[in-house]
Amino acid sequence: MATILGISAFYHDSAAALVVDGDIVAAAQEERFTRKKHDPGFPACAIEYCLRQAGKTPADVDYVVFYEKPMRKFERLLETYLAFAPAGFKSFSMAIPVWLKEKVHLPRVIRKGLGEGTRAPIVFTDHHESHAASAFFPSPFDEAAILTLDGVGEWTTTTYGVGRGNRIELTSQIQFPHSLGLLYSAVTYYCGFKVNSGEYKLMGLAPYGRPVYKDLITRHLIDLKPDGSFWMNQEYFNYCQGLTMTNGKFDALFGGPARNPESDIEQKHMDLAASIQAVTEDAVLAMGRTIHRETGMKNLVMAGGVALNCVANGRLLREGPFEDIWIQPAAGDAGGALGAALFAWYQLLDNPRAPRVVDQQKGSYLGPRFSSSDVSQFLDGARATYSRAASEAELVDRVAALLEQEKIVGWFQGRMEFGPRALGARSIIGDPRSPKMQATMNLKIKFRESFRPFAPIVLREEASRWFDIDPRHESPYMLLVAPVLDEHRATVTDEQREIMKNDPDLRNRVNVPRSSIPAVTHVDYSARLQTVDDSRNPRLAALLRRFQQRTGCPVLVNTSFNVRGEPIVCTPEDAYRCFLGTEMDVLVLEDAILLKEDVKERLDDKAREKYLAQFQLD
Ligand SMILES: [Fe+2]
Repeated sequence: MATILGISAFYHDSAAALVVDGDIVAAAQEERFTRKKHDPGFPACAIEYCLRQAGKTPADVDYVVFYEKPMRKFERLLETYLAFAPAGFKSFSMAIPVWLKEKVHLPRVIRKGLGEGTRAPIVFTDHHESHAASAFFPSPFDEAAILTLDGVGEWTTTTYGVGRGNRIELTSQIQFPHSLGLLYSAVTYYCGFKVNSGEYKLMGLAPYGRPVYKDLITRHLIDLKPDGSFWMNQEYFNYCQGLTMTNGKFDALFGGPARNPESDIEQKHMDLAASIQAVTEDAVLAMGRTIHRETGMKNLVMAGGVALNCVANGRLLREGPFEDIWIQPAAGDAGGALGAALFAWYQLLDNPRAPRVVDQQKGSYLGPRFSSSDVSQFLDGARATYSRAASEAELVDRVAALLEQEKIVGWFQGRMEFGPRALGARSIIGDPRSPKMQATMNLKIKFRESFRPFAPIVLREEASRWFDIDPRHESPYMLLVAPVLDEHRATVTDEQREIMKNDPDLRNRVNVPRSSIPAVTHVDYSARLQTVDDSRNPRLAALLRRFQQRTGCPVLVNTSFNVRGEPIVCTPEDAYRCFLGTEMDVLVLEDAILLKEDVKERLDDKAREKYLAQFQLD
């Protein structure tokens, strides 16, 4: 018996997770509570929530597990600095005070953060061990090959090995500065997007481009071996010694300086996105083949930031040697908190891991939930006008009818998601058949002009009738991209084809209706799929089923419940504020339904500006 608290903090996306006797009781990112996107601080609120959820106090915690070894990371910074000195003094002198203040004294910081009464020993796991544990232990497999890929942990950037029963063993690794994650981030930076969050946008930009720079990348930047191992030429990068990712030599290679954020996206950036995406897919497929050959495992599990590349994941599943793949939904460093806690329970305390059929991630619905009475209390306090559905059948019936009328619905149900994606607990949903839905959602709800289509949610049993996914496979965590099937594609005129290929305005390209579900179909007919089933999210499955009965379409648009730059909403209050601040038509908070036309309270322009100004553009 043990209560284990996992923590990841002080880099990017702090989080806490609580594992009680092997059961994942709670997990959440700090940003959802502090409303500061990617909050890297000590996850005090997330810890407090996890303990509350389990009905425990800090004194009940038996072990605190931190997701990486701070002194080894410090050693990497120091050694990297010394290797490049005197270059890099500026970045070194910026990093050092933070290290001396917080990270070197981490045990003290953690004890102080948890407050009086915590006597639990503090254990430090290895960064990639935490990723690997987060991928294997919750997975449905008794044994599997493991692949972790990220920017960098202490020293390691890539590992693979095997998980069996209650143990993981990582047998091979690639070390800093050679890193697929950092290479992707370097191109993300060069294309004018934010490192550590804009990678997802770059992936979404890739279908507009042609991989014309692929040769240049593999000739100069990365030497990719047939077995998937690689070596990067540091002459082109600045992340070891500087404050930027790339340098003048990189600029010269691609014919000019990095794109200014918010300036126009040119064909060159799309081609670069397509090129780095192609290189990444080649690397992931090659690694997959090697790992399969060396481990002899049928199944694969993955984690680390690069495992959020759902296009590469989709190809690995369709074209690769593995029968099935499971990916940790919180694949980035937030998931390290969960991995660290599970590593302690299984590997360090040697508790048995029972055979299983379904994964133990619980749909990744591991965050706080709010009851109907919590919701009423809030809405009554806010003097909001709302009605209440008497039953779930009535709720899904009413919402399906509103969706059919092209209403945009804020859907707030059950426990909040753990990980970067909204999976139907804190989502904004709409009708994917509507040709104007993509533009409306982007401009009136998210306040962004986006070149990316939205992601579809689809009934699990209908997925293979709409998308190219094997009926044996599922994508419950939106980590696989699959093409829309031919039969749902629309006939495109020559004129439209020309727009799709060459219009300088990407919004025009994405707005050509390519399929019967245009809002969720990318220009290359791909879709970032989430399959919805009755066991993980019965209410959402019921809604999809009702929508299908009305329209014949078992698919809805799903985007995260937030505006641009805002962390996904956590509480009814966050959701209500976002509802008022945007042109969302309907808000469904558990069983309460609010229609915008009935709501008297409106944010005037000034109040809306103030609301939006809180969040830094991502
Ligand atoms: Fe990581």
